[in-house]
Amino acid sequence: MHLKPVIAANWKLNHGPTDAKAFLQRFLAQTPKLNDRTLVFLPSALTVTTVIDGLRERPEIWVGVQNVHSEAQGAFTGENSVLMARDAGARVVLVGHSERRHVFGETDSQTTAKMAMIAQARLVPMLCVGELLAEREAGRTAEVVERQLAAGLAGLDDQQIATIMLAYEPVWAIGTGRTATPQDASEIHGVLRRALISRVGEKVAGSIPILYGGSVNRGNASQLLAAPDVDGLLVGGASLEADSWASIARA
Ligand code: 13P
Repeated sequence: MHLKPVIAANWKLNHGPTDAKAFLQRFLAQTPKLNDRTLVFLPSALTVTTVIDGLRERPEIWVGVQNVHSEAQGAFTGENSVLMARDAGARVVLVGHSERRHVFGETDSQTTAKMAMIAQARLVPMLCVGELLAEREAGRTAEVVERQLAAGLAGLDDQQIATIMLAYEPVWAIGTGRTATPQDASEIHGVLRRALISRVGEKVAGSIPILYGGSVNRGNASQLLAAPDVDGLLVGGASLEADSWASIARA
């Protein structure tokens, strides 16, 4: 089965509302409605409302947030909750991005709690998994991504698992210009697909998009997207400039 590709822009800590407006103007002028793919914007929480407003005429394009706290509300200064994300109009939430794990020290048990919270709120959790360079060199890639996937799914029932998206982002490929080859990506996407099959069976596992992320650019996007078991792309740096992102969106 071939899934409709999901192509997502993770803006990380870039683009406030003013930049986002200018970006959308330029991007939309060159991007007609594309029925054969789902585009997703993941701006900063402070920019989400601007992006949602800017896409009012383009409801086929999804908007999400890059992180939420594991509690819905309370005394957690500086955090954002899934209820606020939903209220603002977000549809997707990134969970366990490598920068959350390795810069901010987010643990597997925090990803378990966040995934459950997001699924309960009926938003789409996009779970990121990926190994460090040392783990790859030690031959531990499959073990690491399987552990991260199991933690992400631990608090979900089968129906909730059917709503998720996954992203394989090898940490050594993020922001480094060193992209995984389409074969590398396919191999690990296959590992993830088999782990999903053993958890929820072929039918549901086959319907979950598995995106690749890590130094995707307009030169390599279509080759990666064509690789077996690669159902989409999660793009950082190359999504920050409207022309580059528009070209990847059409890959
Ligand atoms: P780059 O595309 O900048 O390598 O970032 C990938 C990423 O982390 C997307 O979530």
